[in-house]
Amino acid sequence: MIQKPRGTRDFLPDEMEARRSVEAKMREAGRRFGYREVSTPEFEDTELFTLRSGEGIMQEMYVFEDKGGRSMALRPEITAAVIRMYINEAKVAPKPLRWCYFADCFRYERPQKGRYRQFWQFGAELIGADTAIADAEVIMLAADALNATGVTWDLRVGHLAFMKNLLKDLEMVAQRRVMAHLDKKDFEGLETTLADMGKEDLAGSLSALAECRTPGEAFEIAGTIPEKERVEQMTGILDESGVLYSLNFGIARGLDYYTGMVFEGFAQNLGAENQIVGGGAYRLAHLFGGDDVASCGFAIGFDRVMVSLGDVQPAKDTIAGIVYTNEGRSFALAVARAFRAEGIRAEMDLMERGLGAQMAHASKSADFAVVIGKREADAGQVTLKNLHSGEQKALVPAAAIAEVKAYGAR
Ligand code: HAM
Repeated sequence: MIQKPRGTRDFLPDEMEARRSVEAKMREAGRRFGYREVSTPEFEDTELFTLRSGEGIMQEMYVFEDKGGRSMALRPEITAAVIRMYINEAKVAPKPLRWCYFADCFRYERPQKGRYRQFWQFGAELIGADTAIADAEVIMLAADALNATGVTWDLRVGHLAFMKNLLKDLEMVAQRRVMAHLDKKDFEGLETTLADMGKEDLAGSLSALAECRTPGEAFEIAGTIPEKERVEQMTGILDESGVLYSLNFGIARGLDYYTGMVFEGFAQNLGAENQIVGGGAYRLAHLFGGDDVASCGFAIGFDRVMVSLGDVQPAKDTIAGIVYTNEGRSFALAVARAFRAEGIRAEMDLMERGLGAQMAHASKSADFAVVIGKREADAGQVTLKNLHSGEQKALVPAAAIAEVKAYGAR
């Protein structure tokens, strides 16, 4: 028997319905903020991701050579692709651009609860607005999208300027190594790396930065930074907007493209893989041949949200089982069409079963049986049976439809 690839999942109809119901809440949050959905290819030139996405992601990428000898990668995230698309298709569009996506990503990671090789992200990218309120809007949208799902989580907001100021004397490569340790909260590795660089003294300040709870405390450690006003404005706007968050200037983020504000969210019941959202301000467009446009965005790990929510019960369809005889078939087809035209889920027997067997099946799978034999067909009526109460009546199709709809809306 052939099995699915490691780290991937199959979704049966119940699970797909649950996923779609939660997905719809996130999309709806995007819509309310004016973010319009975009879509990009599942695979891209490998270079798109190697340019700036960071060591971690590069090691986890699915890379292959296509028949033309080009190196291609399954997308490990969507941000780089969205910015490539912006440069290809929408460079001259009025700013800011508010885009969102719901898309699958691929990372060759060791699978465990909440960590998959194929997973879905709901994300947003705000392109061309370089202000404190733009940073704050992206955080507000992430918070709304997550809160709409009902997941319990907490939000941490930071800014890279503090850390970068402490690390400013290090080369870019060294800065990235240090920040990778911080991202993984690997303080032991951090100390070793800093010792190798002869910068032991930085370890204390960097871990103290992660403990600061106000911008003021962080300025004391990192010195006054040019971004001071921007950080204060952004936290002021977040406070005004009622978003619940805590500050954490130890957030480093695993991807290399971030430049300023960064944020992460964590669900309470997920164990080790509990980060359900990550994002921040970044610059990528200039690397892909565009102008140096400021952008800001986030991606929510949709699968982690689903794991955290547990058993999701989406609104159930009302189901009409069309139970019919040979003589009634033509009328039954017309009735099924009429039910479906009114948005009702109508299922006809496909097994050439007798009326009794069809009724038995309907009572297991449907809310109503719509019985159509010769007598009903001749009279232009159906016998509508409520399979929960057992109540049954002869009705013209329009009245039966109204009855089923009223049941669905109760
Ligand atoms: P990221 O932090 O790499 O950021 O991923 C975002 C979210 O995707 C994570 O917080 C996590 O919930 C989920 N995720 C990551 N890897 C896996 C996995 N293997 N299985 C399940 N879920 C996973 C980004 O991808 C950036 N593009 C976010 C962004 C958008 N920054 C700016 N704009």
